Amino acid sequence: MKGVILAGGLGTRMYPLTKITNKHLLPVYDLPMIYYPIQTLVNAGVTDIMVVTGGRNSGDFLRLLGNGSEFGLKHLNYAYQEGEGGIAAALELAEHWAAGDSLVVVLGDNLIEGNIIEAVTNFREQKEGAKILLKEVHDPHRFGVASLDGDKVTKIVEKPTDPETNLAVIGIYMFDERVWQIIGGLEPSKRGELEITDVNNWYIEDGSMTYEVLEGWWTDAGTFESLHRATNLVAEGGANKVEG
Ligand code: DAU
Repeated sequence: MKGVILAGGLGTRMYPLTKITNKHLLPVYDLPMIYYPIQTLVNAGVTDIMVVTGGRNSGDFLRLLGNGSEFGLKHLNYAYQEGEGGIAAALELAEHWAAGDSLVVVLGDNLIEGNIIEAVTNFREQKEGAKILLKEVHDPHRFGVASLDGDKVTKIVEKPTDPETNLAVIGIYMFDERVWQIIGGLEPSKRGELEITDVNNWYIEDGSMTYEVLEGWWTDAGTFESLHRATNLVAEGGANKVEG
């Protein structure tokens, strides 16, 4: 199983903080933001990792992370995204490296308190399909929002103005090897991006999407408010730091 961290995009929502650096290099309490998603994967036993970066100062990722020895890794893989074509477009840049394997994708601005190892283990046992993680939030309109029917996800709507539930789809996704074909068939959305929500809805229609509700806190850090929140959460309660 491969792990992909998406840390591209231009972070325009956070100007001027991101005018001269990449959003994922900004500090969240005592560590650069990108450290947290890497640790999320490592704690879940996923150690074959590619970081997709882009935009300004992408060379700084190499200087900062090197071969990932701080995380106990021997090697890290990198890809470069030009522009801001969307989450699924950034993921597509990992195809040549990850094709033929299942994968866990983590958005570079998503932080969690706990460990996703159980969800990853359950997904490894799932014959095919995808898995998403959900979390109840008070501001669902900011996220992909899932509707459920018992143990099935029936649909995901990206940033709905009138959300049907308060279950946000967090930025950690597990896909089987069909994901590349699905991305290849996507059309850009109204905002001109290849949407990860369209990939997830494909699996829902296929009947092969499962979900779990994440335990512990989760936050993104892609706006001033959520970066502030992330910093406070880490400072108060720690995050998924190196275990053992
Ligand atoms: O945080 C969870 C949410 O992330 C989900 O609930 C949404 O369904 C999903 O679309 C996404 O929403 P955002 O609007 O918050 O995504 P954003 O454009 O901020 O991108 C999140 C991360 O994805 C960003 O930190 C880096 C990566 N990314 C994004 C784009 C648009 C790339 O690597 N390349 C890109 O072109």
